[in-house]
Amino acid sequence: MPEQDTSAKTKEYYLDTPQECDRFFLKGSGNYDWGMKNRLARIFNPASGKTVMLAFDHGYFQGPTTGLERMDVTIRPLAPHADALMCTRGALRTLMNPEVPQAVVLRASGGPSILKDLSDERIAVSVEDALRLNASAVALQVFIGGTHETQSVHNMTSMVDACNRYGVPVLGVTAVGKELTRDARYIGLAARILAELGASIVKTYYVDDFETVTAACPVPIVIAGGKKLEELEALQMARDAIDRGASGVDMGRNVFQSDAPVAMIQAVRKVVHDGASAEEAFELYRELTSRGV
Ligand code: 5RP
Repeated sequence: MPEQDTSAKTKEYYLDTPQECDRFFLKGSGNYDWGMKNRLARIFNPASGKTVMLAFDHGYFQGPTTGLERMDVTIRPLAPHADALMCTRGALRTLMNPEVPQAVVLRASGGPSILKDLSDERIAVSVEDALRLNASAVALQVFIGGTHETQSVHNMTSMVDACNRYGVPVLGVTAVGKELTRDARYIGLAARILAELGASIVKTYYVDDFETVTAACPVPIVIAGGKKLEELEALQMARDAIDRGASGVDMGRNVFQSDAPVAMIQAVRKVVHDGASAEEAFELYRELTSRGV
């Protein structure tokens, strides 16, 4: 039997205080439902509006990538410094500690290996399994201009429909085929298509004139790091991307293939969240490495 409200205190309705109406901090995300916003706020830091995602899903098509041979050894120490972990369900279940507070962005497309046409992907995870893993978003590759362009677009739109039922954001990854020019015209085309077809976040490569890509894409863009660069160069790329409208990075090789990955991810955070210049962040990298980090 529920108890009656017998409190002697006078009820207070704060009649002179209008109810607060929250404005959501993230680009293009103001009209989503609560669960979707809450998941996005786990990936993107509401204070800075940015994210440092750690990508270590490379094994899903290229096997034991350099730096990812033993993810229990190399990735687990990096996890505390990331806002979100982008990985496959296999890596998550077998190697990552479920006690980590980081958001999970789950790789949800796959199929071909590096031995085949990479654009021939299918959906590789159900939304139910993504929810079972408490994913904050799922990620699918979309091959605009690739042989299997339509199939890969369909993978993403099917997943958007499934994920919208549960408030799970979809991150669309623009994959650039060998034969396609990686420039603002192409990246801008791909990013815009993904956003228009329902991606809540777009991941792409940093290119010259990046501000035109971010301006014409109505959802947050995060950049991939791409091939390993010198640390200062990678930090400069992150700085340039943020300055030109990126909402964060989803870096893999430039972190886990660094000589000092734990120092590098902290330097990346300084650029993304603290507004540091590449040089200031590199100074932090050097200081941390001199201390053996
Ligand atoms: C694979 C991916 C990877 O997660 C991502 O591109 C790799 O990150 P990086 O380029 O920084 O190593 O989406 O296609």
